[in-house]
Amino acid sequence: MYRIQTYNNIAVRGLDRFPRDHYEVASDINQPDALMLRSFDLHSVDIPDSVLAVGRAGSGVNNIPVEALSERGVAVFNAPGANANAVKELVIAGLLLAARNLLPAAGYVQGLDPTKEDFMSSVEHGKKKFTGFELPGRRLAVLGLGAIGVGVANAARALGMEVVGFDPKVTVENAWRLDSGIERARSVEAAMEGADAVTVHVPLTENTANLVNAKNLGGMNAGAMVLNLAREGIVDDAAVREGLDAERLHAYITDFPVQGMMGHPRVITLPHLGASTTESEENCAVMIADQLRDYLENGNVVNS
Ligand code: MLT
Repeated sequence: MYRIQTYNNIAVRGLDRFPRDHYEVASDINQPDALMLRSFDLHSVDIPDSVLAVGRAGSGVNNIPVEALSERGVAVFNAPGANANAVKELVIAGLLLAARNLLPAAGYVQGLDPTKEDFMSSVEHGKKKFTGFELPGRRLAVLGLGAIGVGVANAARALGMEVVGFDPKVTVENAWRLDSGIERARSVEAAMEGADAVTVHVPLTENTANLVNAKNLGGMNAGAMVLNLAREGIVDDAAVREGLDAERLHAYITDFPVQGMMGHPRVITLPHLGASTTESEENCAVMIADQLRDYLENGNVVNS
């Protein structure tokens, strides 16, 4: 009997992969063989010696002490690509929301009083105040060409955007999946130079901290949009704030609440929603459950 300890928000379809006659799966297991989690932070947990594997139902593993676990011989798995469509859709939604000023426009209309005499003239005023712009012909820089970055790049291209991608380590498989009309840049600076929007799809490491910063933001076109649906710290928030205040940047779409930017009219702040669709939660849980099971039963290692 294998014992799997689960933490928050693991989709049921993933748990169904562990047949109950061979597995005990619960959130309060004694001496577990494996741990299965989503964004729960494992750094402060005293992980029992019985643990052989840890499965992250998502792509980022920065909530797991990977190095310390690897030194103990514990295999760490993630679910690359399983949430790529969910994140891609949110990036495209963010671009459209910001380009059409949809959130402030909706807030403006909601704040009007339909019983007031000037209601219709106020609506008309809103129509002029929130004129937006269209995406075709605008240039999007995609930093990171893994499963998510490639999906975003192809979708933006399908919407008529010019797309330039940067990733020094793109796999052959992902390179093949890229739409042939997508340019490849040799550096972050080159990708962002003359871009109207930038979106990041890389893990947070010492090399990617402040990857988007005052210097390369300065090379973007006036009125550019910045998107961070990856990890807090990849974009230098203070530099973005400066660009927004100086009206060099049009909008910041971030999946992390940023101190000092909450309520800013041109910042769209989301509560880490990138992977939060029923489909993505199931895909991630199923992928990670399959990997854990294959490892525990057969010793196979995929994505460790
Ligand atoms: C990820 O790294 O894939 C996301 O953080 C997933 C999540 O929201 O759990």
